[in-house]
Amino acid sequence: MPKHCEYELRRTKFLKTLPKESIAIISSASEHLRNGDSYYPYRQNSDFYYLTGFKEPEAVAVFIPGRKEGEFILFCRARDPEKETWDGIRAGQEGAREIYGADQSFPFESLNQHMPLFLENRRHLYYAIGQDMRFNKRILSWLSTVKKQVRKGITAPQEFANVEKIIHAMRLRKTTAEITLMRKAGQISAKAHCAAMAACKPGLYEYELEAEIQAIFTKNGSRSPAYNHIIGAGRNTCVLHYTDNQTQIQDGDMVLIDAGAEYAHYAADITRTFPANGRFTPEQRAVYEAVLTTQLAVIKTIRPGLSWHELQRTSEVVMTEELLRLGLLQGQLDTLIQTGAYQKFYMHRIGHWLGMDVHDAGSYRDDQGQWQTLEPGMVFTVEPGIYIPAHTDGVAEKWWNIGVRIEDDILVTENGAEILSAGVPKTVIEIEALMAGNQ
Ligand code: GLY
Ligand code: MN
Ligand code: MN
Repeated sequence: MPKHCEYELRRTKFLKTLPKESIAIISSASEHLRNGDSYYPYRQNSDFYYLTGFKEPEAVAVFIPGRKEGEFILFCRARDPEKETWDGIRAGQEGAREIYGADQSFPFESLNQHMPLFLENRRHLYYAIGQDMRFNKRILSWLSTVKKQVRKGITAPQEFANVEKIIHAMRLRKTTAEITLMRKAGQISAKAHCAAMAACKPGLYEYELEAEIQAIFTKNGSRSPAYNHIIGAGRNTCVLHYTDNQTQIQDGDMVLIDAGAEYAHYAADITRTFPANGRFTPEQRAVYEAVLTTQLAVIKTIRPGLSWHELQRTSEVVMTEELLRLGLLQGQLDTLIQTGAYQKFYMHRIGHWLGMDVHDAGSYRDDQGQWQTLEPGMVFTVEPGIYIPAHTDGVAEKWWNIGVRIEDDILVTENGAEILSAGVPKTVIEIEALMAGNQ
């Protein structure tokens, strides 16, 4: 976990970005009931956590630049010995100040009493517009309380802005502390993929490979996956976000594993695809190498200054060449690229930002509508794929039920790229070597 000063640095930068006479309000994530008295595992809202490092639910962070009593106010649960006996220790107001660096802290229950006063005479109000409708409603109710005071000369905020725009721009460029955590998430996930590949053999159920993956995650301090494990064999390799993971793996199947650990709130997102019995058939190998060629071609181009659009474009061009070479597409290369013919087999995009969330915050275009250009500290996935479900129009049966995706996590560096997910075999030779003797 980044040390306390990491959050303080982020808050300082955030407060500097807010205009004068503004207030920003950010809520923790809600708890979600699963059934009866049982809750889904709680995970803090990433924006809230990014600025506070605070993990408890029922908390609200308020930022008021230039306020003399303090610019960072944290509302959180009050200490309560009886409740803490059941649910664990709370930071309380003292902890909010001492541990989390709040200038002031008040009990969560006192929000309605304090918030209208904080909103008084502020011109700009920043919050996550449209993100949590219940919390948005509470903000509007505090606003309406302030508006009732106008005859006393009190003014209410007149200008509203989305606080996410500021925080997400910060989150897009990772700090050194964040990169350290992302390397660790990548390493844990790579180790888990190796274990699953080494354990795979026909006759196992997909969930048995899930168990291999999850065991490594948990043993290495990743308390939850960054997203639900995708472990598909045979036809299931062609379902992009398959999570049922209950089918028995057959001899001759391909197996696709898309799994990433969350470590200290940071995600990895890795996909590997391999033959269940450890030996590629000619068709499996041909499709696999087409995807790998595309992935390596894209990774090779990565450097600061490259436009996000170029990454996508390279993947489309190389993928079309490869599909043409395999005979899965027929026609003129230029026409096929222009008409997006590759989408019949490669229907998703080349990747996405990666960070605290697997599909991380951060815009893909700037304010002028131009595609984002890469900068050192940005992290994203490169994950081309080819998916050929049974009965695909105009495709011979020998290709059916082959789905291949290869996904790595890339950090943009001053000179090029660092692969955070290196360490999992990727070439046909490496995969067959790792799996030799699995039977
Ligand atoms: N694991 C989801 C994705 O690759 O985007
Ligand atoms: Mn991904
Ligand atoms: Mn993935």
